Amino acid sequence: MIEACIFDLDGVIVDTAKYHFIAWKALAEELGFEFILDDNERLKGVSRMKSLDILLEIGGLQFSEQQKLAMAEKKNMLYVSYIEKMTPEETLPGVPEFLQELRNKGIKIALGSASKNSPMILDRIQLSGMFDVVVDGNSITEAKPNPEVFLKGAEKLGILPENCVVFEDAIAGIEAARNAGMYCVGIGKPEILGMADFVIPGFEEFTFEKLEAPFPFPPKWKA
Ligand code: G6P
Ligand code: MG
Repeated sequence: MIEACIFDLDGVIVDTAKYHFIAWKALAEELGFEFILDDNERLKGVSRMKSLDILLEIGGLQFSEQQKLAMAEKKNMLYVSYIEKMTPEETLPGVPEFLQELRNKGIKIALGSASKNSPMILDRIQLSGMFDVVVDGNSITEAKPNPEVFLKGAEKLGILPENCVVFEDAIAGIEAARNAGMYCVGIGKPEILGMADFVIPGFEEFTFEKLEAPFPFPPKWKA
């Protein structure tokens, strides 16, 4: 039985990947190497410091922990300069309607994101009020694929993991959902997100009825 839906933020509710890309690219250029869009895929769903490690690996560079913290801070300042200008129009199509449908049906809604900027983004797109619970990069210690972010969300909602559905666009996030023992819907391409219980391209035309349709089949983690 579906009692709660837990949403990732970046790539599910909003497309912030383009802003992360601009900011990481600027840092790479400052360090003297090129960062291309293809490599940006590797940063999806990955925490800020882990993203920096991947970036530096691409550039073949090494720095001290202190230098890395300063670089991550600098990248974040540029990233924030973009997201603070976001408007509700940047919410991905169909998301507000689907959230409203869940609320009307009494389904609980949580956010489960690695981003420390989640509160600001939800505020800018005017969706903060839709979430019963927000678990983000400020309240977790373990990054996806560790299930902490989703288990915390379920616990705060007071709902059993098996009655939660996670919506995720990143492979690490789908793994995290499965590790949490939750049903998982991939947002994106089936050839990339094959581990999800099922995959949809986005929320346009998506309804609770379509979400419920495959139930009560056991989720893949049980198979
Ligand atoms: C999400 C994004 C990642 C990002 C991470 C941390 O998972 O998909 O690309 O690195 O959040 O975001 P933050 O806003 O805290 O730097
Ligand atoms: Mg994501």
